[in-house]
Amino acid sequence: MIAPSILSADFGDLQSEVASVVACGCDWIHVDVMDGHFVPNITMGPLVVSALRKRFSCKLDIHLMVSNPESLIPAFADAGADVITVHKEATPHVHRALQMIRDHGIEAGLAVNPGTGLDGLEQVADLLDLLLIMTVNPGFGGQAFIPATLGKIADAKSRLAALHRSDVAIEVDGGINASTIRSVAEAGATVFVAGSAVFGEENRQTAVDRLRTALHA
Ligand code: DX5
Ligand code: ZN
Repeated sequence: MIAPSILSADFGDLQSEVASVVACGCDWIHVDVMDGHFVPNITMGPLVVSALRKRFSCKLDIHLMVSNPESLIPAFADAGADVITVHKEATPHVHRALQMIRDHGIEAGLAVNPGTGLDGLEQVADLLDLLLIMTVNPGFGGQAFIPATLGKIADAKSRLAALHRSDVAIEVDGGINASTIRSVAEAGATVFVAGSAVFGEENRQTAVDRLRTALHA
């Protein structure tokens, strides 16, 4: 599953930008929320999510790169999120945050930065729908893929299998393009976030086809 990240889209024309990738058969849209505190950048909030919700029925995948994510979960859930992912590094109360997301009737994701291990996965596995392995340090689009994350993806896959949770989606985010997508898929990733590799190309169908071809090569 390719999930275009609108971080690299033209915010002045967001509706047609999203429509351009939905037309390519992408039914996940990845929304990067940054607070200028957890990461050194500020992006968008629940108003953007509700505007997208009114116009599109695709899956809205909300990646919260914010400190104290618990304070924002209700607003993003009410705005129409389908999946909300919180960072392990952003709260001492990961279990509570995941439970809060589930209590809103939506899917819960846990993200780990490149410098963070998978310890504690067992303790929250029953609350997870998605595990996001960051393949760059979060904050900006267009960064280079960090190859050392490949081992963690493979480790996540085997740990989830051992926990009988192979149904949990393993998402990768950062530096995913036609040169890297195959290696993360082979390691075990199932959802591929791509920002600049999709929105950086004028022809979105060409961009998405290139990723799909590399994935299945
Ligand atoms: C990075 C964001 C990513 C970003 C990926 O902090 O979480 O979703 O949009 O951009 P690319 O695909 O350009 O690396
Ligand atoms: Zn993201």
